[in-house]
This record gives sequence, C-alpha cells and structure tokens, in this order.
Amino acid sequence: MNLCNIAEHQSIKHKLTMSPSTSIHFFLLLTTLLSLSCLSQSHKISQVNPITLPIAKDPKTNLFYTPIGIGTPQHNFNLTIDLGGPILWYDCNNNYNSSTYNPVHCDSKRCNGNAGCTGCNGPFKPGCSNDTCGANILNPFTDSIFSGDTGDDVLFVSGNTLSDLLSGCTNSDGFSGDEVLKGLPEESKGIIGFARTDLALQTQLSSTHKLPRKFSLCLPTSNNNGPGKVVIGGGTTQPTILVTTTLIVNPFSTAPIFSEGDPSYEYFIDVKSINIEGNDLNFKSSLLSIDSKGNGGTKISTMNPFTILHSSILKPLVRDFVKKASDRKIKKVASVAPFEACFDVSTIDMTVTGLNVPTIELVLKEVVQWTFYGGNSMVLVNKNVACLAFVDGGKEPRTSVIIGGYQLEDNLLEFDLVSSKLSFSSSLHRLKLTCSSGDLFSYPVYKA
Ligand SMILES: *[C@@H]1O[C@H](CO)[C@@H](O)[C@H](O)[C@H]1NC(C)=O
Ligand SMILES: *[C@@H]1O[C@H](CO)[C@@H](O)[C@H](O)[C@H]1NC(C)=O
Ligand SMILES: *[C@@H]1O[C@H](CO)[C@@H](O)[C@H](O)[C@H]1NC(C)=O
Repeated sequence: MNLCNIAEHQSIKHKLTMSPSTSIHFFLLLTTLLSLSCLSQSHKISQVNPITLPIAKDPKTNLFYTPIGIGTPQHNFNLTIDLGGPILWYDCNNNYNSSTYNPVHCDSKRCNGNAGCTGCNGPFKPGCSNDTCGANILNPFTDSIFSGDTGDDVLFVSGNTLSDLLSGCTNSDGFSGDEVLKGLPEESKGIIGFARTDLALQTQLSSTHKLPRKFSLCLPTSNNNGPGKVVIGGGTTQPTILVTTTLIVNPFSTAPIFSEGDPSYEYFIDVKSINIEGNDLNFKSSLLSIDSKGNGGTKISTMNPFTILHSSILKPLVRDFVKKASDRKIKKVASVAPFEACFDVSTIDMTVTGLNVPTIELVLKEVVQWTFYGGNSMVLVNKNVACLAFVDGGKEPRTSVIIGGYQLEDNLLEFDLVSSKLSFSSSLHRLKLTCSSGDLFSYPVYKA
C-alpha cells in the first residue's frame, strides 16, 4: 500500500469517529489535501518545485538584494532586486573568470536583443570575447547604458544548480569610477531583473525548467525580522489572504533603450482612485490612466525606496492626511526632506500594523483595495519624528504613481504572467505575519 492509500484509509476512520460537524470540515480538508498530494505524487517526474530566494534589505539605500552563485569556480553575488529590470547582470571584473562560461554568438538564435555585437582584444574571459551578443547593462541610478556581453553559465540558487540560463555581464574595471554599480547596495555587484521579458529569470525558468510563469515577491521590513522571499514559479499556500487585480501593459516602452513600438516591460496596475480613510483625494483622475503617449498610470518599482507621486496627487494627499492626523491630535512638526509631512512620534499610538495613522487606500479597477497602514506609510527619520513616506515626482513625471519599496515591505505580491494578474495581501502584519513566516510558503527544496 502506498502513502496515498494509507492516508485515505485514515481519513475514513477519522470521519467515522468525529462529531458530525467537525468531521465534515476535517474530512473535506483532508480529502482536499489528499487529492492534492496524490495528484502531485503521480506527476512527480515532470513536476519541479518553485525556487525560493531569500531577500535582505540594505538599510543605507533602502534597496533589496538576494544571494546568487554564478560560474565555475562558484562566485557569490548579492544581486539587487529590480522588479522592472529586463535581465540578470553581474560584474565580471578583471578578477573574474569562469570555466563554464559560454558567450552567446551574435548570429545565434538566442541573441535577439538590441545591443549589437561586442568584441575584445584581451585574453578570453567572461566579458571579453569576440562576436558576442551584446547586453545592455542598465542601472537606474546612472544616466548611462553600459555595454556588456550575453553569456550562458551555471547559476546556483538556494541549493539548486541551474544550467542553460542566459545573463549579462560587464567588466566594471573597464569604466571609470564606480559608474556601473553606482547607487546599488555596497554588497551588491549586479541586478536581478523580474520584468516581463524573455531574459528575466522567471521567463527562462518557465521554458527551460517548466516552472509556471509566475513569481511571488515579499520584501522584508528589516533584517531583524528575517529575510523576505522571491518564489519563482510559485505562490503562497494561503491564497485566501490575497485579492487580485489586472496587470496592465503600457503600450509605450518606459525603458531607457528600446525599439520603436515596444511596449513597456514594467508592471502597471489600474488604480482608479486614492483615498484616505474612505475620502477620495481630489485630483484630475486622468493622471491615473495611461495616455496616448504612454504617460501617466501606476507602476510598481523596487528601485525607488519610497512611492513617488505626481505633484498634483501628492499635494492633496499631504493636505488631507495632515488634516485627518490633526483630528486625531497627532502633532505636526517641521518637515524633513524629501518628505513633506512629519509628525511627533510621541503623539501617535502604536498598533500591530505600525503607527496608528489614517489609512491610505488605492482603489483598483476590480474595486479591490490596496491599503497602506502606518507600517508602510510612515517612516521614522529619527527617534522622535515620523514622516509620511511619499515623495514628490514633479509636475510632469512619465508615470504618475510609482509604488516604491517601502510601501511593498511585508506585503505579499504574486505576479501571474500567464493570466496577467497581480494578487496582493496589503500589510501581512494585519494577519500577524511577515514575509519570513514559515506558513506563507511551504515548498520542499527543488533539486535539479
Ligand atoms: C551578501 O550579503 C550578506 C548580508 O546580507 C553578506 O553576509 C554576504 O557576505 C554578502 N555576500 C557577498 C558575496 O558579498
Ligand atoms: C579564463 O578561463 C578560461 C577557461 O578556463 C581560460 O581559457 C582563460 O585563459 C581564462 N582567462 C583569463 C584571463 O585568465
Ligand atoms: C578578438 O579578435 C582579435 C582580432 O582577430 C584578436 O586579436 C583578439 O585576441 C580576439 N579576442 C579574444 C578574446 O579572443
């Protein structure tokens, strides 16, 4: 008798010995679990498990990074997480070499970017080879686009050895100063991009390792609470904590380099209105839609530490928030740049979801709400002062609302790229959970 049958047998026994009301629930739960586990058992050979990467927060930059091993011998990198980044790239500087690296030839079918063909005079190594498929090395904290190479090498991710994956690399020693890595956490020597592109890791893993084309992202509040998580090819085992909205495609590229007609590969959502405790902010609602040139709308970004709002949205947000805070006898103090509204912490109560301030809600197309409580809306700038953690994007920003990293912390996000849906939890603290809570995800470790 195999495990499936044993368990089935026991469930019947339970059903018989329990009181009627409990038995029904318990039986339903057990049979659901059973059918799931028996199902997965019969598909064991073709099915691979989702891949989980831990996320750390860099307190200096308020950016997030994850450890990844590359090449032979294995080089360990912390790569900065860029939700809107098109590729995975790392620094193959003068000290770097790998015997398992294969540059992709310009004429190869696997070369379909717009970065041309690269060559190099030096001795062969990653970042120095001839007739190699170029890679655009993008770092949103610089104004330059650096040239790099596209190559194939082995990746080590959370105990898994993954082959046949393409990434970009560039030799930072070839550029003056720290230009290539400018603005990234000190520990980080590259970027892992999760955008809607062929070269993003989740897309490559869906074609080479048959993982479902989706990923979950849960950024940690601080490293004291344990790491956050990216789960490639999977999501939470508690989907009832999520609500779902449509991911929309901005038909105009928002990238620093693109071909004419390319849509944006970043993740946009359709916010219809913004309110504080149910009272809508008063601004031109057209700012929330994407116009005929691709301007406006709302996107999600891990490369902006705080949410950036069009001036015409920030102004009423600050005004209404300050008013509602004063109704609660919260004392306003001088502002601390880049924030506009700051308060005396000693006049604010503490709750499970952070400082007890008016909640800010984004109302989405499906009439679901993304709620920001104090833990995501207020940032401590010193031990006495907390500020509303939204910053001014000016009067003519490309995108009206850019939801930034601080607002995403301890919020679980699931990007389903097949159905083009985003599911999100709002603050996990509300449920007494964090990104590192063991019961959010319970996957076995995948071995290739
Ligand atoms: C990556 O960051 C962690 C801290 O989160 C650090 O302990 C580790 O040494 C870093 N690894 C590399 C290769 O820089
Ligand atoms: C890098 O490694 C390759 C393969 O092991 C070797 O052929 C090459 O000479 C090395 N390059 C340098 C610059 O050491
Ligand atoms: C690239 O080609 C040039 C010209 O043939 C040659 O001098 C150079 O050594 C080659 N580079 C590598 C990395 O093999």
